[in-house]
Amino acid sequence: MATGNAAATPRDNWGSKLGFVMAAAGSAVGLGNIWKFPYTAGENGGGAFVLIYLAFVIVIGFSVMLTEFAIGRHTSRAAVGSFKTTDRRWSFVGIIGVLSGLLIMGFYPVVGGWALAYIPKVATGLLDNPQDIGESFGGFISNPTQPLLWMAAYFILNIVIVSKGISGGIEKAGKILMPLLFLILVVVAVKGLSLPGASAGLEFLFKPDFSKVDSHVVLAALGQAFFSLSLGMGCMITYGSYLKKKENLVQTTGMVVGMDTAVALLAGIAMFPAMFAFNMEPAAGPGLVFVVVPQLFAEMGHIGLLFALMFFIGLTVAALTSSVSLLEVVVSYLIDEKGMKRVNAVLSASAVMAVMCIFASLSLGGIGPKLFDTGVFDIFDLLTDKVFLAVGGMLICIFAGWRLNRVDLEKEITNNGKIAFPLFGLWYNLVKYVIPVAVAVVACAGIISGFESGKGAIMVLAIAIIGCSALISKKL
Ligand code: PHE
Repeated sequence: MATGNAAATPRDNWGSKLGFVMAAAGSAVGLGNIWKFPYTAGENGGGAFVLIYLAFVIVIGFSVMLTEFAIGRHTSRAAVGSFKTTDRRWSFVGIIGVLSGLLIMGFYPVVGGWALAYIPKVATGLLDNPQDIGESFGGFISNPTQPLLWMAAYFILNIVIVSKGISGGIEKAGKILMPLLFLILVVVAVKGLSLPGASAGLEFLFKPDFSKVDSHVVLAALGQAFFSLSLGMGCMITYGSYLKKKENLVQTTGMVVGMDTAVALLAGIAMFPAMFAFNMEPAAGPGLVFVVVPQLFAEMGHIGLLFALMFFIGLTVAALTSSVSLLEVVVSYLIDEKGMKRVNAVLSASAVMAVMCIFASLSLGGIGPKLFDTGVFDIFDLLTDKVFLAVGGMLICIFAGWRLNRVDLEKEITNNGKIAFPLFGLWYNLVKYVIPVAVAVVACAGIISGFESGKGAIMVLAIAIIGCSALISKKL
């Protein structure tokens, strides 16, 4: 990603179209697809969740991503600046984005650390005793010190990359390792599908059983769509601000959404058939990718070891290309709006995030504070993907539909009429009316049903934080 002072003009531009698509896809494709999607699908009953998720990706995710790219390119500013230059009163939407970035970075690096830790674990014999992999994972993440060290190592990689500006080595690493990761997922999927009893897994994933759907499942699908596509927090606004005026925004959006969704589905196909073949619980939770995938590799003999190594290296890099984009949203806010030097901005943002990660990691071993019986890791996860991102996405749509000018948006998206976008009217009405109402309804219903599981109060807390940030953002 091109970086630097986002408020400075003229802006850097992406060197090539592919460079931009790969960078935006790098942000989108990450732990959200390979770690979060399969276990969320498992916990929410499978097929029906997947179908609702896909509908949200196509209708809401695509529209919101196009909106974010258009706002970013139109204003040539990063998350907060893009709202501020248009109308100061809207800066709070950018601030909510910065807060989301901070909160996601309060747990994402913990899981990034697990992925990193798995590289040496696989190399030193994790696959030798497949039956112990589950127990060893459980022991590892609930250990008070080990995951912290790996989280720290993972965090240092983020700091180094973002301090230098993102356009360096990580982009190159991503360009090679992402396609490789995709290929390995294909191999894992084929292997999983070949196991006896695998078809039950496919059925679970793709045969919808709507009796399992309640408003919480719908909210989980919406949150997953926003999280996986890196939407609702200004990340794609920042990326769009570096996009050249001649690029086709609609096509670019289609490519990023397509790649992200393909990886998520592939991860599901790689995991569920194998789980059913191994007689594991589909609702196995956050450990899924770290338990099922190594077991599959263990079945493949020597070549499995090589694949497993490449898989966890690829997973770590996929996580890195996402977390650096999260860190960058916070860092570019500190640089642009607070006048900080890049290195200082990176270090201060990281210090806060790392402390949050320590609490998040410890909470998995049952240590540390709890709120309504929920540990810190789960609180950060719940706040962001069930509330912050969806509300952020809704506000971005309201901003585009009601505050920006329809003609300006049409000019931006069609490159002054040079590109045909026959669905412009549909997109505009979705963004102006349908998405804000749909997100509000899904979020409210999800929050109300969240009270049954004791999580509603935490979600209400999130709404209160959003309200406060709207009130104080004028001072920021
Ligand atoms: N989309 C990323 C993933 O799937 C996570 C992310 C969310 C990144 C929001 C940036 C912004 O892992």
